[in-house]
Amino acid sequence: MKIRVEPEISGKKDGYDIIIDAGIIGGVSAEEIVSAFSSAAVNLKAGFLAVTSETVYGLYGVKFSAFLKKCGIENFDFIVLPDGESTKSLKYLADIHDRLIDNGMERSDSIIAFGGGVVGDLAGFAAATYLRGINFIQVPTTLLADVDSSVGGKTGIDHPKGKNLIGSFYQPRAVLIDVDILKTLDKRELINGFAEVIKYGAALDADFFSYLESNYKKILAYDEETLIRIIEKSCSIKAHIVNQDEKESGLRSVLNFGHSLGHAIETLYNYENIKHGEAIAIGMVFAAKLSKHLGLCGEEEVARIKNLIINSGLPSDIPDFTPEQYVNAMKLDKKVSDKQIKFVLIKGIGVYEFKKLDFSFLFNYLAKI
Ligand code: NAD
Ligand code: GLY
Repeated sequence: MKIRVEPEISGKKDGYDIIIDAGIIGGVSAEEIVSAFSSAAVNLKAGFLAVTSETVYGLYGVKFSAFLKKCGIENFDFIVLPDGESTKSLKYLADIHDRLIDNGMERSDSIIAFGGGVVGDLAGFAAATYLRGINFIQVPTTLLADVDSSVGGKTGIDHPKGKNLIGSFYQPRAVLIDVDILKTLDKRELINGFAEVIKYGAALDADFFSYLESNYKKILAYDEETLIRIIEKSCSIKAHIVNQDEKESGLRSVLNFGHSLGHAIETLYNYENIKHGEAIAIGMVFAAKLSKHLGLCGEEEVARIKNLIINSGLPSDIPDFTPEQYVNAMKLDKKVSDKQIKFVLIKGIGVYEFKKLDFSFLFNYLAKI
């Protein structure tokens, strides 16, 4: 399956393919990949730096090297970084830049992100900033990265004071999704990625949400066919949004359903002990309840979102921080302007609504619940 992403950049369409299949890395024919690289103007004879994490390298380093060779890529190196959100930092960005310089990499060379969202965001930002931009290819290995972070070009790192505060929009030249690789992902990570899938249904597609309600058990059982189906659907929804609003000047904010509170939770936890998908699951339940409080939706919609989240094993209760801590963390959200935050709310399942909310209103609401 191939999905084309074609965001309009400076009035021009600049597209790339997302290729979704099972067994791409495991050794099936590399022809489709080679043709995707060629159509993306990636020179297979140039140099490649694959950025990956310790776990992924341990599991797939040998297989991935063989895959690259099969594609005709001979000149490649790996940089293997520690697992975890704290790797999305200036320190590891500098380590990648150092390696690119030490290897004498040029503008025609490429970075491959081979890992989860942490590796993808960090490697993408390194690609965006080295020599003012070199080719970048995403090979995601977590469900979260398959359905969200590998597509759409948001790259960056965290700052101790706020999530993703430093970064840039930088689109990959190709995205290769091998569903086989998800088999080694532990259950908590699979469920973490499922939160972003729920997001697409809850905010944008009622039929997809119903499909998830009926099929979540198959997803939690790593059923390949169902995983391919939800990855295809999620990537199609995301591509459709990114094609219209690459730089998040309006519509793309809908993809942040659950993220205003979610990012605040991640920051307050200092990026430890909670995963991104878990934090946004709590944020989605919060946003649904807030939507009901504002008269936008009813109890039934709140209950459906909360039930799917709880049934999938995701958390839904707001952690015990003070309203002041939440509001202070949310003040650093990228959707803040004129001392208000643009919140993504829902009018029903699959129907979003943007609303600018004052921090004083949010403080009072958080103090009440
Ligand atoms: P992650 O990258 O930390 O990966 C989770 C863990 O799984 C890591 O320890 C990793 O080594 C391991 N792992 C990866 N693939 C594996 C595999 N196939 N088998 C076994 N283990 C494997 O976490 P994540 O959830 O993928 O990504 C979270 C990050 O993505 C956050 O920083 C979040 O902000 C970012 N994100 C970015 C976007 C975007 O649009 N750029 C969207 C959503 C989330
Ligand atoms: N993950 C939100 C976005 O890509 O816009």
